[in-house]
Amino acid sequence: AGQYAFRGEHQAGIVTPAQDRLHFAAFDLTSTATRDDLIQLLKDWTAAAERLTQGLDVSESGSVGGPELLPPDDTGEAQGLAASGLTITFGFGPSLFRTADGTDRFGLADRQPAELATLPLFAFDLLEESASDGDLCIQACANDPQVAVHAIRNLSRIAFGTARIRWSQLGFGRTSSTSTTQATPRNLFGFKDGTANVKAEETEALRDFVWVGDDEPQTWMHGGSYLVTRTILMTIENWDRVSLGEQNAIIGRDKGEGAPLSGGSEFSEPDFELRSTSGEPAIPEDAHVRLAHPTQTGTRMLRRGYNFVDGSNELGQLRAGLFFMSYQRSPQQFIDVQSALAKDSMNEYIRHVGSAIFAVPPGTRAGEFVGSALF
Ligand code: HEM
Repeated sequence: AGQYAFRGEHQAGIVTPAQDRLHFAAFDLTSTATRDDLIQLLKDWTAAAERLTQGLDVSESGSVGGPELLPPDDTGEAQGLAASGLTITFGFGPSLFRTADGTDRFGLADRQPAELATLPLFAFDLLEESASDGDLCIQACANDPQVAVHAIRNLSRIAFGTARIRWSQLGFGRTSSTSTTQATPRNLFGFKDGTANVKAEETEALRDFVWVGDDEPQTWMHGGSYLVTRTILMTIENWDRVSLGEQNAIIGRDKGEGAPLSGGSEFSEPDFELRSTSGEPAIPEDAHVRLAHPTQTGTRMLRRGYNFVDGSNELGQLRAGLFFMSYQRSPQQFIDVQSALAKDSMNEYIRHVGSAIFAVPPGTRAGEFVGSALF
């Protein structure tokens, strides 16, 4: 589809079919920003996002309709481009509710969901501040990279003086399907990614695993979700020297078809009991899909990540990886799966260098601004 409605029961950009391009940005409020400034920012962002997702300039006077003596409201690089399936999804980090030293800057501390807390440090974490945390976030996804970048650029411009970008990440190819109508894409290890993902058509799974339910005491989060982002570097030159058989064993699926190593085709259920004639499990004990599977973790999540290549590093290797994003009704789901992955044989080829968590409020209804029920 070329256009997704900004307003609705849930925010767009979660179960709407994953687009091909991403620009994600985390923001910090400036130290002088007040509660009123925050509310005004969310109102301004709502109005702008509603226009941008329709393929319009950020305001009515836009790129070229304003006075000659002033900088235009809209930066202009999306003129002539269609909406390109743009979705803009907003989230609130733990630090918005309470700063590291416990200060309640915006009078929101009693509104903080108990579960919205900085994630624990996991095995193999090598976190960089420059890819972690943030008071606010915006996920802009589109099928045209310039449309996604234009959205973040103009929304951060609106925030000038109130909030500034803390870090941002571009993604060039989706690594998940969020609808059964989509073909499964591939990550930079060359494997199909998103096969067993929670999909938009799975109404019950969305209720059980993605949307925050009415049991959450913080009513403003009902119909929302928790977003976890993990910037994961992949040492792909090392991976590229690993034999095909070993690559398959690390993932637990075959590289061509994406079928579980226990047999069948892409969407066959893996059989973790099956053993080869030599007695070895067909899907190794330390294979990614065994450790991440609901039979091991007791839970699921909706993954919505992107491939990235940010040039090369000082060793001449590609600074490449997977910008992992998952939506879940409780951060505990991510914590449980990521903890299970401590034994993952894939860990030899990846490092998590960024981590963030955000409470993503429900959709914005007519007359509301994003997150208005919080205030
Ligand atoms: C499945 C790759 C990180 C959770 C898969 C699959 C691949 C894959 C190829 C099989 C196809 C599919 O069902 O999507 C990767 C790569 C990663 C990574 C390359 C890092 C660079 C993670 C992380 C988590 C995670 C950090 C969560 C903490 C899952 C889950 C499944 C899965 C839940 C589905 C398991 C099932 O139900 O069969 N991943 N993954 N993955 N991954 Fe990952």
